[in-house]
Amino acid sequence: MKPLLQTIGLFKQFAGLRGFGPIDFYANPGETVGVIGPNGSGKTTFFNVVTGFLKPTSGQVLWQDQDITNLADYSRARLGLVRTFQEKMVFQGTSVRENLQFALIQHGKSNIGDLDLQEVLAYVGLPTSTIDQKAGDLSWGQSRLLGMALSLVMKPRLMLLDEPFAGLNRVSALKITNMLQSLKRDGIGIVIVEHEMSLLLPLCDRVVVFADGQVLAEGSSHEILQRNDVRKAYFGEEIVARD
Ligand SMILES: Nc1ncnc2c1ncn2[C@@H]1O[C@H](COP(=O)(O)OP(=O)(O)OP(=O)(O)O)[C@@H](O)[C@H]1O
Ligand SMILES: [Mg+2]
Repeated sequence: MKPLLQTIGLFKQFAGLRGFGPIDFYANPGETVGVIGPNGSGKTTFFNVVTGFLKPTSGQVLWQDQDITNLADYSRARLGLVRTFQEKMVFQGTSVRENLQFALIQHGKSNIGDLDLQEVLAYVGLPTSTIDQKAGDLSWGQSRLLGMALSLVMKPRLMLLDEPFAGLNRVSALKITNMLQSLKRDGIGIVIVEHEMSLLLPLCDRVVVFADGQVLAEGSSHEILQRNDVRKAYFGEEIVARD
């Protein structure tokens, strides 16, 4: 299968210090890929470079074999390469509707009506009545769900999610899980950075492990959990053979 997204020798340095790389990575259409790794291992920086928020020091980003390394972030979003952020990224003082409309305009997409906006809110598990609410009045969990909605209005073909479960209670986490399963059913590719293994691993077709800015391992959830080097780098433990 031809990958939707591919990186070749992608490398990012900050003032002589390595952010990550070189990294060869791919995500196939409709595939759910988990990215795990210790704090500071380069996961968010990798997302920032792949989506065009940061320029790489070297290497390439390909979208369906087309080189998009120098394409602006909004142009990548228009192709369907869309991300959510680790922190909440909404305009606090304006309504949910205006936030959604602004996301569309910012990415050069045409505006959509209230009914379609409400459909997106329902899809992520937000009450449709929140459309008139100020984004700043939403709870932490609700604003994370709005973050998802802001990405979804862009009609992504591949969504990059940075810690979508962070700070959510079980009910909101379940909403996100359901939404990710719906996205998968709808054939949308997903790359998820997440520390919460019990929520992440059941969703993934493949898991890629980052350590010190490089890919340490790659495989199914089951294979990854069995690897000693992964358990040591990420969980700080080793499988010790017993007599
Ligand atoms: N703007 C920046 N300037 C300098 N160094 C940076 C910058 N952004 C990230 N880094 C460095 O790059 C490395 C990778 O950071 P990154 O945020 O990508 O890690 P992460 O894997 O997302 O961690 P976490 O799990 O804590 O979110 C770290 O050493 C970090 O300090
Ligand atoms: Mg991060």
